[in-house]
Parts: sequence; structure tokens; C-alpha cells
Amino acid sequence: MKTDQTHFGFKQVDREQKADLVKEIFSNVAKKYDLMNDLMSAGIHRIWKNKMIEEINLSHPLTKQSEDLSSSSEELTRPNSQDFDFAQPMEASREAARVIDVAGGTGDIAFRIAKKFPQIKIDVVDINQEMLDVGKNRAIDLNLFSNLNFTCCNGEELSFADQTFDFFTIAFGIRNFTNIDKGLTEAYRVLKPGGKFICLEFAKVNDYFLQKIYDVYSFKLIPKIGEVVLKDRSSYQYLVESIRKFPPQEEFKKMIEKAGFKNASYQNLTFGTAAIHVGTK
Ligand SMILES: C[S@@+](CC[C@H](N)C(=O)[O-])C[C@H]1O[C@@H](n2cnc3c(N)ncnc32)[C@H](O)[C@@H]1O
Repeated sequence: MKTDQTHFGFKQVDREQKADLVKEIFSNVAKKYDLMNDLMSAGIHRIWKNKMIEEINLSHPLTKQSEDLSSSSEELTRPNSQDFDFAQPMEASREAARVIDVAGGTGDIAFRIAKKFPQIKIDVVDINQEMLDVGKNRAIDLNLFSNLNFTCCNGEELSFADQTFDFFTIAFGIRNFTNIDKGLTEAYRVLKPGGKFICLEFAKVNDYFLQKIYDVYSFKLIPKIGEVVLKDRSSYQYLVESIRKFPPQEEFKKMIEKAGFKNASYQNLTFGTAAIHVGTK
């Protein structure tokens, strides 16, 4: 690949084109994004997101280490309840703690954090205004708007000062970045010393036969669901291709370390379909 080119799914495009192409994808899917997530994952994305939020511990933000949990039957259970009532609100021991949720989209991660820690403020950042607009409306409906600030900007060039945040979260976003290393460097920059990086992203399935089944599901069924529900096959074709282009767990862990993070580790979810990566500054 030429140095001025990068991948956009399985296609090669000029580097400066990619952010706009990604923006267009999420503009196409914004209004039905949440419905599509549930349809495509049979609700499992909710369990993964709840698991991710467990990495935020305001009393001891830096002590919890992840371990490889692989899949469990519990992870595969579809949740009964629809929304963000997975935990009782907790008393935040550090009210001034600040969280940034990058590639926050329609707010799924921020809402979970706001429900669990009602005292803290969360900055939701996304490159796509339409995704944020859906998020704002959901925040109003959930009565969480006052906990959140929404900012439209690129995660590779965050408009926040150095050492602002205690936690940096990003779910299913970083694989869309043109330059993942730059996104990680920005995460490191805006975190306070001792701050925690938490990333939920699709990953490499750790079983050959499951991978084959997952391939059929991803490449045949998901674009079809996009075509039927949204009349948009190509956006979902991109989404599944972008999952395949994302580095496997060990490689991504090394990238996190290269950005300066200590104690980098990850836990696989649902046979490695997704993984939660963490690191501390
Ligand atoms: C798959 S959605 C994930 C949304 C949300 N985090 C969730 O888990 O439901 C990916 C989001 O990443 C955003 N995104 C892609 N590239 C970005 C970038 N360079 N900077 C900030 N956001 C970006 C997209 O606009 C989209 O809202």
C-alpha cells in the first residue's frame, strides 16, 4: 500500500479521504444505529458494554487489572431489560472525576457511566454530528442530558487540554480511525497521570471453526440485514470489513504500549469476537 493510502474496509483510499468516508457511513446509519446493533448482535453488545463499564472504578481507578476471561455462558445470555439499569447508582468517591467517551456516537457508553456514577460529568466526542444528535435526544429522554457534554471532533485531534481526564473510554470506534496510533497518542495526552484507557473493540475470534461460522454470519447476513432494514448494504459491508482489518488483540496491545500506556492488558469476550483493552498512564 502506498504511504499516502490507507484501508477503508477492504478498499484502499487516500488517507485524507478516509475520515469523510467514515463520516458518511455513520450519517447513513445514525437514525437506525441502535436498532441495528441489537439486530446484528442479538443484544450481546449490551453485555459487552456493561462489562466495559466495570473497568471504571472511582475508588480504585488504577488498581484493577484485566485478565483473559474468554467467553462464558453468562456473556452469551441476552439481557431481558432494554436499557441502562444494569447496576444501582454508586456513590462516586471522587466527584471531580472526569470521563471522556471518544467515538461516543449515540451515547450508549456515556449513558451507562452516567447511570452508574450520577455525580460525574462525561464528555462525549464524535466525528459525526448526526450520531451525536441522536445521542443528545436519547440523553434528554433518559434525563441524563445535564451529566453530558457533546463535542463534534476527530478523536485523532481532540480539542481538550493535556491531562484533563481520569478515564478515557472508546467503544467500537478506534478501528474507524485513519491513524490508530495518533488516536492512542491523543488518549494518552488528555489523560491525567494515573488515568485509565478503556477500549472495547471487535477482535479476533480464537477458534478456527467459530471463525468460519462468524465469517459467514458477518459477510452474508450482516450486509443483508443492512439492506433490508436500512436499504443500505454498503455501509454494513464496510463495518464488517473494518472489523477484519483491525489488528488482533496482541498487536493492538503493543500499539497501546507504544503510545506510552503501562499495565496494558485485555480480556476476550464471547470467544474473542470482541475484547476490552485497558492501560494506565
Ligand atoms: C460503531 S460506532 C460506536 C458508537 C458507540 N461508541 C457505541 O459503542 O455504540 C463508531 C463511532 O465512531 C465514530 N468515529 C469514527 N471515526 C472517528 C474519529 N476519527 N473520531 C471520532 N469519532 C469517530 C463514528 O462517527 C461513530 O459514531
